[in-house]
Amino acid sequence: MGLNREPTVALNNTGRAAKPEYPPCALVIFGGAGALSHRKLLPALYNLALDGDLPEKVAIVCFSMEEMNDESYRAFAHDAIQKNSRRPIHEQEWNGFARTLRFVRGRFNEPADYRTLRTQLETVDREAGTEGNRVYYFAIPPSFIETCANALHDANMIRPPDGPGTFSRVVVEKPIGRDLASSAAINDRIAAHFDEGQIFRIDHYLGKETVENLMVLRFANSIFEPLWTSRFIDHVQITVAEEEGVGARAPYYESAGALRDMVQSHILQVLSIIGMEPPRSTAADSVRDTKLDVLQSIRPFGDEDIEKYAIRGQYGAGLVGGVPASAYLEEGGVAAGSQVETFVALRCWIDNWRWAGVPFYLRTGKRLSKRASEIAIYFKSVPRILYNSNPRAHLAPNILTIRIQPNEGLAVHIISKVPGPQARLQQVAVDFHYATSTPEAYETLLRDIILGDQTLFMRRDSVEASWQLVDPILDAWKETPGEIPVYSAGSWGPLEAALMMAADGRSWRVL
Ligand code: BG6
Repeated sequence: MGLNREPTVALNNTGRAAKPEYPPCALVIFGGAGALSHRKLLPALYNLALDGDLPEKVAIVCFSMEEMNDESYRAFAHDAIQKNSRRPIHEQEWNGFARTLRFVRGRFNEPADYRTLRTQLETVDREAGTEGNRVYYFAIPPSFIETCANALHDANMIRPPDGPGTFSRVVVEKPIGRDLASSAAINDRIAAHFDEGQIFRIDHYLGKETVENLMVLRFANSIFEPLWTSRFIDHVQITVAEEEGVGARAPYYESAGALRDMVQSHILQVLSIIGMEPPRSTAADSVRDTKLDVLQSIRPFGDEDIEKYAIRGQYGAGLVGGVPASAYLEEGGVAAGSQVETFVALRCWIDNWRWAGVPFYLRTGKRLSKRASEIAIYFKSVPRILYNSNPRAHLAPNILTIRIQPNEGLAVHIISKVPGPQARLQQVAVDFHYATSTPEAYETLLRDIILGDQTLFMRRDSVEASWQLVDPILDAWKETPGEIPVYSAGSWGPLEAALMMAADGRSWRVL
């Protein structure tokens, strides 16, 4: 849940979290029979149902071109949940959930099909009591966004932003565009029919429990925030490493690459939370304003920075977890000689008072040694006196690591005495990890959409600030084809990434 509700108020008198009031709502999933729905949306909605976190009066309506009806769509959803839900399917709960599912067959570019959808939704309002409230979830390729938004408008299916009682919201997935210009164009098209307050731009990393916890960690504890400055922090590393290759998503990936796919959205969003000032309040726009400040304070990449501090790579063949993995160029759907990057490492500077002089190192890649996403805050070393006076063996610095996934949690790495008579020191970790499985990001995000809480969604200005930052890198790489370094699948990326760190006298954390 977005953090703009008072946590103390969220406890009822049994000490359990009180449920918010979920408004009646019809959630219309455009492309609801596609891969995103199968992997993420339907399992997330089912888990919300299990927790009693769907509105009592709800309908989930798939609008899509497949030859399906209510019954076969329910079978599709059953399969999706069986394969992808974090908790097993429970027949009694399933029966209740299945009743909320409907299917409306339609083409995204056919006005008559929207009239059918509208009539069906009016029926749903009568039968399920959804009272005209709509969430339009665009689980569709970006090229359809304009068509669908226009058609909804033409069919008179969008309520004005502050219409009494009822709401219309739209949900769009990243990537929003391929660069600043195309992103602005998509945003303009959506803005032609929806107010910013009705638009929910998803970056699912913002719904991950550990990412959401970053603000709590910083602003609900007294021990971290005083140290959270260039005075005490030496540098920060953010790693999002994946074992998987591009697999069936090669056609999309060929037009994206790791910089667009991971850095422009997920990693810069995470960076903006690590770097933000304390917001004035936990209201969505207060949080989003302070995050935006960070993105706008990142020093633009000049030509020389790109050459030295924007490293790209592409995976070659190798072994991942002992299993042979083929090269990116051998994946089905990848163009011969493709120069698309599957790995990126960057060094960024946030040019503001808090962070002046603290480098932020970011890296992400596919077919790396293991799946591990982590933020590591490296604190400055203690003076080279007392326990740190040996010039041949300096003490390791204190590090705060926040594990986004897997094994979600955090650890503070400190120096401690090895028990015994000698004064030997070692680095130990004070480690916290969640005892139970955490909700999937899409559960959190879908619940917030229904509640109308925009805290965890990207505002237009932040999406565009991120593009502004990555555009010069994309342009420079486009102009220098044929130079992409290749790394072995199962490694930690190209040598150039390690050399970039070494030139700064540092090294990537071993994960
Ligand atoms: C998606 C990217 O946004 O995030 C994928 O398009 C990537 O390429 C995925 O694999 C990673 O998400 P997660 O939640 O598995 O870390």
